[in-house]
Amino acid sequence: MTAPLLSVRGLVIEFDTAQGRRRVVDGISFELGEGEVLGILGESGSGKTVSTLAVMGLVEGNPGVVGGEVTLRNGAESLALFEGLEGVIKRRAGKPDRKNVRRWQRMVSRRMRPLWGEMMTAVFQNPRHSLDPLLTIGVQVEESIALAERSLDRAGRRARAVEWLDRVQMSDPERVYRSYAHELSGGMCQRAMIAVALARAPRILVADEPTTGLDTTVRAEIVGLFEDLLADRRRSMLYISHDIREVLHLSDRVIVMRHGRIVEEATAEDLRAGRGERDPYTASLLAAAELGEAL
Ligand SMILES: Nc1ncnc2c1ncn2[C@@H]1O[C@H](COP(=O)(O)OP(=O)(O)O)[C@@H](O)[C@H]1O
Ligand SMILES: [Mg+2]
Repeated sequence: MTAPLLSVRGLVIEFDTAQGRRRVVDGISFELGEGEVLGILGESGSGKTVSTLAVMGLVEGNPGVVGGEVTLRNGAESLALFEGLEGVIKRRAGKPDRKNVRRWQRMVSRRMRPLWGEMMTAVFQNPRHSLDPLLTIGVQVEESIALAERSLDRAGRRARAVEWLDRVQMSDPERVYRSYAHELSGGMCQRAMIAVALARAPRILVADEPTTGLDTTVRAEIVGLFEDLLADRRRSMLYISHDIREVLHLSDRVIVMRHGRIVEEATAEDLRAGRGERDPYTASLLAAAELGEAL
């Protein structure tokens, strides 16, 4: 792996439910290298979404992230984004009561907010709901451009937005520029969302089940699009999916989550080639995937 850009150590996430406190992420550690695509694979409910939301500082409340550390490295500089609630409480000899939980949450979001966007942006499942229904696609792409390329004037931003819509392979970028989300198909909305995210020029793109809910052909097109957009290895990606074929197709390295734990970590190449001892759950996923079939 190249120099790690993001490092997650011992992340623990818990939620209070009617049945008591539930630990949904149980001490996971992973790193993401510069220019690397890390696939996160696992069945529904295994903790993929909540782990990556935590990394972005977006798990709010009830208690949320109770343990662990997240660090971003910027060249020789290392920036501790946050430590889990337990670490903070221990250092300050406090109690994990409501007041301290809220104080800690405010601290995390204060620290994370300026980084959100510049360091990391995300593309989620159900792009139609992530786009603003009241703004044209063009305006939304331009909002990202205005933050990432401050020197551009209005005409420059417009030209760049159309360029981005072209880069995400919209067949008529000028028309899409003027369109609203409800006028586009699901696949086009996801392309638009990817343009909005990438125009922000993040160092890390988080893609959480970006193809779920789309037709098979459209899914393959979106996976192909990610492949093209990341080919220059100028940004890193966390690619989350329950679809092993998508993950193996796109990733350099893969972690497999189950019941809030990482049960496997391997290079995509080794997994594809069937090399090495596999955890039984990973082996069953590989067996079920009919890997001979092209994506
Ligand atoms: N805010 C929350 N409050 C309570 N439980 C939650 C919350 N967010 C997620 N969970 C639970 O955490 C577990 C992991 O969820 P999630 O990360 O969404 O799984 P995945 O993305 O792998 O499908 C699930 O059992 C889910 O119900
Ligand atoms: Mg999820």
